[in-house]
Amino acid sequence: MAIGGRATNPVVAVVFVLSLWISAIPADAGDNNPVFQPCADTKIQRKDGFTFGIAFSDRDSFFFNGTQLSPCDSRLSLASKGAQLAVFRPKVDEISLLTINTTTSFAPVTSGGFMVVFAGRKYAARSFPIFVGNTSYVVTSFTLVLEFQKGTLQNLYWKRDGCASCSGKSNFVCLSKQDCAIKTSSCKGQGGSVDCSIGIQLTFSGTDKHYAVLNSWYEVSNLRQYSLYGLYSNLRDSLTSQYHNVF
Ligand SMILES: *[C@@H]1O[C@H](CO)[C@@H](O)[C@H](O)[C@H]1NC(C)=O
Ligand SMILES: *[C@@H]1O[C@H](CO)[C@@H](O)[C@H](O)[C@H]1NC(C)=O
Ligand SMILES: *[C@@H]1O[C@H](CO)[C@@H](O)[C@H](O)[C@H]1NC(C)=O
Repeated sequence: MAIGGRATNPVVAVVFVLSLWISAIPADAGDNNPVFQPCADTKIQRKDGFTFGIAFSDRDSFFFNGTQLSPCDSRLSLASKGAQLAVFRPKVDEISLLTINTTTSFAPVTSGGFMVVFAGRKYAARSFPIFVGNTSYVVTSFTLVLEFQKGTLQNLYWKRDGCASCSGKSNFVCLSKQDCAIKTSSCKGQGGSVDCSIGIQLTFSGTDKHYAVLNSWYEVSNLRQYSLYGLYSNLRDSLTSQYHNVF
């Protein structure tokens, strides 16, 4: 199970950060995808690794002249706006939970409070900017769908559950009827004791380059009702059970 992740240093230039990253990720067994950069195109098959990036910044900085561009596009000049970049390489069609540990140095709130997931150059895909947090609230749990057609990434989108996951939990509030959030002041490093690290549930849909169907999304929609975090017993302790213990 691909669990883990990290936030890299500020985006000095995307290319610079990426070259650091290439040496940092070894290819896994069964991974035949030679592309390790998020700002490049590739065609995947099941069991390949697939590299994508997540940029953290304020909402406006993802737009140029009214149009949302890929963070790979230099016209956004995200680096000069203090954006932060994280790069991941999960295995295609495996249900994975990525974590970004925010208890140490990386704080999405001070990096603008929104994130965009992106990959590709000619076939560039990017999610819409989603709210991660501000000085009042933080959202810690996300579901991302990566949709491929014949192995080429077509679409990246956030799946929201309309706050179903926070019903009955008094320490959560539902923002805009779609995101469960926790008070920033409850978080470690902000005066509280909750580990407000970000967890991103990944699922894959569509087809790989051999037309094999990617169906982890199907599994997840069935599992959803039983709480996805139940799949990750080691993380459950660090991320979710704390909500029951702390308050
Ligand atoms: C911004 O958009 C307007 C209207 O679409 C267009 O006329 C203008 O040339 C664009 N400016 C730049 C710098 O792309
Ligand atoms: C984040 O890092 C801290 C310090 O290393 C650790 O105690 C904590 O368990 C980590 N949280 C997650 C979710 O990995
Ligand atoms: C934080 O975000 C929430 C939800 O978008 C909003 O209601 C609130 O006013 C924001 N607080 C600050 C201090 O910006």
